Amino acid sequence: MLTWTLWCGLLFVLWIYFLWSRRRFYLLTLKIPGPIGYPFLGMAHKLMRREDILNEFGIYMAKHGPTIFSWLGPIPFMIVSEPQVVQDILTSPHCVNKGIIYKAVDDGAGVGLFSLKDPRWSVHRKLLNPAFGHKVLLSFLPIFNKETAQLLSQLDALPGGGEKDLIPLLQSLTLGIATQTTMGCDVKSEENFKSNSLMERYQCRWARQLSGKEANYYRAKTEIRAFIRKLIQKRLSEDTEDSIKSKDKNIFLNLATDLLRRGVFDWKNVEDESNVIVFGAFETTANTVYYVLMLLAMFPQYQERAFEEIKSLFPNSGDFEVTYEDTQQMVYLDLVLNESMRVIPPVPVVSRQTSQDLTLTNGIVVPKGVQIAINMFHMHRSKKIWGPEAESFNPDNFLPHNTRDKHPYAFIPFTKGIRNCIGWRYALISAKVTLAKLLRNYRFKTSFKFEDLYYVEDITMKLKAVPKLEIQKRM
Ligand code: HEM
Repeated sequence: MLTWTLWCGLLFVLWIYFLWSRRRFYLLTLKIPGPIGYPFLGMAHKLMRREDILNEFGIYMAKHGPTIFSWLGPIPFMIVSEPQVVQDILTSPHCVNKGIIYKAVDDGAGVGLFSLKDPRWSVHRKLLNPAFGHKVLLSFLPIFNKETAQLLSQLDALPGGGEKDLIPLLQSLTLGIATQTTMGCDVKSEENFKSNSLMERYQCRWARQLSGKEANYYRAKTEIRAFIRKLIQKRLSEDTEDSIKSKDKNIFLNLATDLLRRGVFDWKNVEDESNVIVFGAFETTANTVYYVLMLLAMFPQYQERAFEEIKSLFPNSGDFEVTYEDTQQMVYLDLVLNESMRVIPPVPVVSRQTSQDLTLTNGIVVPKGVQIAINMFHMHRSKKIWGPEAESFNPDNFLPHNTRDKHPYAFIPFTKGIRNCIGWRYALISAKVTLAKLLRNYRFKTSFKFEDLYYVEDITMKLKAVPKLEIQKRM
């Protein structure tokens, strides 16, 4: 019995030594610095809580530099925030697949464009690209305008004075826009949607991340899925040969249901892709608009400059129609939007995994099977790239003479390369329409200090405490 125990003990020690030396081997041969972590765990114990992830990444970067190698249990992983290394990864055909962290997205929204593996991913991406073409986006402008006009009426009706949580109104706006532009139907007008607490629960996710109410959130997501399924079924049952011919074939749902009829997509593909587009569109855009308003409330001198620009385009307050040409003239608002997405990237980290060995420009070979976190949050705030004031908010950072010498991958809120955001143009136009109408009609204020913001990685960027905003009507 004693011998048996001794043998087991010896094997256990050898196994730990094997894991440990494999890690040391990787670290030595890869020549990338990083924390080796504990046996078995690596750095997994440090990255368990979403709330700590960005903080921990910052600590590793300060200690080991912008590109780090470590372990998540038995899994090798890298954290990257160096523009050239990021470009090497995002443009490599051996790094198209998402990392394992997106399992969570699959559970909530289904396996669509966001998490599909290649070669299936490239097939879907090619098929769905036409739904994001310039002409299709232009056709959405009346919807962006009409929905934001409704938001103005809702804001006008709010009781005056005091700071308020505007996130629910903004999420409701962008969910309405997303479902109308992609599914051809406004969720808010559906009886079923009005009567359940789905949106309320979805909005609770801001509180959820701290209270651990995951179950509620996943139930809300399941309900949104069920709702989208209903919209697809409705569309398929209503379609006739004549109605199909008369519809714009590049609108997302028309495109997807056509692929279904032709047997290119199955039912689950249509459902999953619809979910991914709606989820991908509405939360990111709502957060982006909110973060811009919040930052302008914290830095009123930049809000006034943005207001002056919008006022020169739209002298009268109240509702007005914003055209695509108008959005192209909002030069200062562009600087503000970019600077806001630099300091608070709406998606702070994206992931990849190597499907084959990848040789970086600096000669380092990243082996097959390594998980990679592209750390946009810290790259966007790197003092080496953005100067000593990198962590502050100043739209001048995007004046042409300040961006001229920056690496093209130093600022990538939608990422770049092979698998960037399919909706980036859509997002920018829709955000500009909403911001123009809001900034022309209201002054935004907050007592919350920029220095007190605490950032939480949750696929999209969250804030531990969300500043409330006070609105004052402008004439
Ligand atoms: C400000 C708003 C938005 C931001 C910051 C944003 C950012 C991102 C980022 C960082 C990714 C991951 C890219 C990568 O892994 O390299 C992504 C993917 C994606 N986004 Fe967006 N997004 C926004 C709005 C939208 C909108 C409006 C839509 C749809 C209408 C959309 C649809 C998608 C889809 C489908 C993907 C997956 C693309 C693929 O893997 O092929 N996004 N987005």
